[in-house]
Amino acid sequence: MTEVKQHRSLRDAFGQFATGVTVVTARDKNDKPIGLTANSFASVSLDPPLVSWCVDKSSTRFTEFTDAKYFTISVLTANQQDASNLFAMRSWDETVFNDAQWFEGVNKVPQIPGVSARFHCETAHLYEGGDHIIIVGSVLEYESEADEPLVFFQGDYRQLS
Ligand SMILES: Cc1cc2nc3c(=O)[nH]c(=O)nc-3n(C[C@H](O)[C@H](O)[C@H](O)COP(=O)(O)O)c2cc1C
Repeated sequence: MTEVKQHRSLRDAFGQFATGVTVVTARDKNDKPIGLTANSFASVSLDPPLVSWCVDKSSTRFTEFTDAKYFTISVLTANQQDASNLFAMRSWDETVFNDAQWFEGVNKVPQIPGVSARFHCETAHLYEGGDHIIIVGSVLEYESEADEPLVFFQGDYRQLS
């Protein structure tokens, strides 16, 4: 199998695992809001409360996210596909926040309204993860409201029902 084919088939195999969709938000060193769509979110530990997500080393927002002291992971609802697409845009452009509805939250981290859960975190650990870095956050505060999730499966958005 060529490397390209192997990548494709491995990506397809990973895509068999249905996930929710989150947006990770933070501020860069100039205090500008940054955000990125991520489905690598995982709950890690209840006591102490820890969560993780993985950021691609090739992302235009890589340094900003690995340097950020605080970040929020927001779980998107079934009707927030537009927000997912907005924060998944290639080549980060800060005007994305002009198009997105947002407000300032805990530790000045930008927040997206209408999500089903938010985990307000302080960066606790960074681990080497191949072409990604695994970011583990201590959950400082959280909010949740039962709602239908946006689902990502086989490379596409889905809904539960
Ligand atoms: C559903 C979905 C899940 C994603 N999950 C991740 C993720 O967990 N980590 C990551 O670094 N990028 C993830 N991405 C890609 C980023 O959202 C974004 O598209 C990419 O970083 C854009 O490239 P750039 O950062 O170089 O501009 C995901 C994209 C989508 C649409």
